Amino acid sequence: MRLIISDKNIGHLAAFFIKERLNAANPTREKNFVIGLPTGGTAVDMYKNLIDLYNKKEISFANVTTFNLDEYVGIPKDHKESYHTFMEEKFFKYVDIDKSKINIPDGNASDLLKEGRDYEDKIKKAGGIDLFIGGLGENGHVAFNEPYSSLNSYTRDKQLNTNTIIANSRFFDNDISKVPKTAMTVGIRTILETKEVLLLVTGEKKASALKHLVEGAVSQAWPATALQFHRKLVVITDEAACNELRVGTYRYFKKLKDEFSHLYA
Ligand code: GLP
Repeated sequence: MRLIISDKNIGHLAAFFIKERLNAANPTREKNFVIGLPTGGTAVDMYKNLIDLYNKKEISFANVTTFNLDEYVGIPKDHKESYHTFMEEKFFKYVDIDKSKINIPDGNASDLLKEGRDYEDKIKKAGGIDLFIGGLGENGHVAFNEPYSSLNSYTRDKQLNTNTIIANSRFFDNDISKVPKTAMTVGIRTILETKEVLLLVTGEKKASALKHLVEGAVSQAWPATALQFHRKLVVITDEAACNELRVGTYRYFKKLKDEFSHLYA
């Protein structure tokens, strides 16, 4: 695990990280670079920075295939808070991505189990996910793998827990009755099978979840802890989210030099 701690523009750092990986892969029409994409407040600034890099011609999405991590069940695709709408409005419509290469789980599929299996098949057919980008829920969820999710799970529907419904009510007029109670989400096993994971974790509210992720024992009570088994996990985080880390842990990661040090030193 790598923890990159910076108070300088996390979105810029994340976008730069993606640019490095994407350009190094040198994708072609035949061999696309496959990215897992998140929604959520933390990701918004990353998308702004990616659009900026695209406009400066430093990056292209022409040979990129995307798989979104999750989608609500039971709201129309064109609902203003659906993840389909989020992705279109915050990112896709500004870049050169081929629409046929965009994959987002269908939260309105008549058979959600089949939808989950089909989604996994599509990931396999695309050659697996090269870079999975995610956030972290206050309760330790990643994508919508809520506490007590199987750590061996693949894409399926999941009931959201109260903490998540309250946290996400800010997007639904602060009215928890308007927040969908179920979502389709990639599983923990889906994430573990990706080639590299980048997590973006910011703010005091995530401090407890980050502590569990970095220092805690692997537990289904904090599903993100399963990522400790991933061979290539990078977490970009700010000072506030580190509030509950042990001083020694914090110092260890602050001292490590990595290929991105020049961006946040
Ligand atoms: C949401 C999403 C996750 C996201 C997380 C954090 O509910 N399902 O994919 O990473 O919670 O969101 P935010 O960045 O808004 O805190």
